[in-house]
Amino acid sequence: MQIIRRLSDLFPALSPSREAGEKLALVPTMGALHAGHLALVAAAKSRADRVIATIFVNPLQFNDPNDLARYPRREEEDAAKLEAAGCDLLWMPTPDQLYPEGFATTVSVAGISGRWEGEHRPGHFDGVATVVSKLFIATMPNVAIFGEKDWQQLAVIRRMNADLGLPIEVIGHPTIREQDGLAMSSRNALLNADDRAKAPAMFQLLRELAAAIAGGDEPAAAIERTIARLVEAGFGPVDYVAYVDGDSLEPLDRYRQNGRLIAAAFLGNVRLIDNVSVISD
Ligand code: PAJ
Repeated sequence: MQIIRRLSDLFPALSPSREAGEKLALVPTMGALHAGHLALVAAAKSRADRVIATIFVNPLQFNDPNDLARYPRREEEDAAKLEAAGCDLLWMPTPDQLYPEGFATTVSVAGISGRWEGEHRPGHFDGVATVVSKLFIATMPNVAIFGEKDWQQLAVIRRMNADLGLPIEVIGHPTIREQDGLAMSSRNALLNADDRAKAPAMFQLLRELAAAIAGGDEPAAAIERTIARLVEAGFGPVDYVAYVDGDSLEPLDRYRQNGRLIAAAFLGNVRLIDNVSVISD
């Protein structure tokens, strides 16, 4: 696996593949890799000739400086995991490579970026859209794989990709979970043992809520009950639990196809997010 840090080294590293007509897949990450990230690499491998992964803890998308400072960084371990997963090229830019002196250009996806995560993390999705558009332009892959774990992020990136007219296929990959249902996340490592034991309640309660809405319960009242049960389970504050259209992230007031339940809540000082589909059968 080739490791590249400088933007100027990336183009020459990718041009032989391009000239050979190889299909490229991109998996952007912020590192501290777990089985969820590696599942994206495996999906990328099955769809392309060469897999490019990126590791960049993007300062632009952290609205909380504390969160940025304590974000886990494990470059060597991550590089070994990517190599074992069959990644061909790892690009690990330094901030100055992506944000040169005087950097002044932001990509902002209006509407969808302001809701839910965007409301609780102001500027977050501008940071994500800006860095992902830069990663897309620098690597110009045929496909790019993102996790459904960050459902709203995936929706923002799909919108941005379509709006910019980039010839990239954006693919969502289902959330990879621990045995007890907790969605894998680099932030799970920050949970103490007590909170780790409580954490799977978020997924369990979302699944129960999905069944209730699919069964005909009125979403608003069912959501209120779920929030109360999250608090009983030790979560708090609960930033939101919402039933939304899976593409636009607009709230839904009754069962619809394509409906998604999204949630964000603190457990101690760690903020967890998760989402599930609502399908009636
Ligand atoms: P990061 O949180 O490192 O996640 C990188 C990718 O892995 C994202 O597409 C995310 O949705 C996916 N992912 C994380 N946990 C997952 C899980 N349990 N199952 C499946 N996929 C999972 O998301 C980011 O980084 C950044 O915002 C980024 C897109 C790299 C832009 O900076």
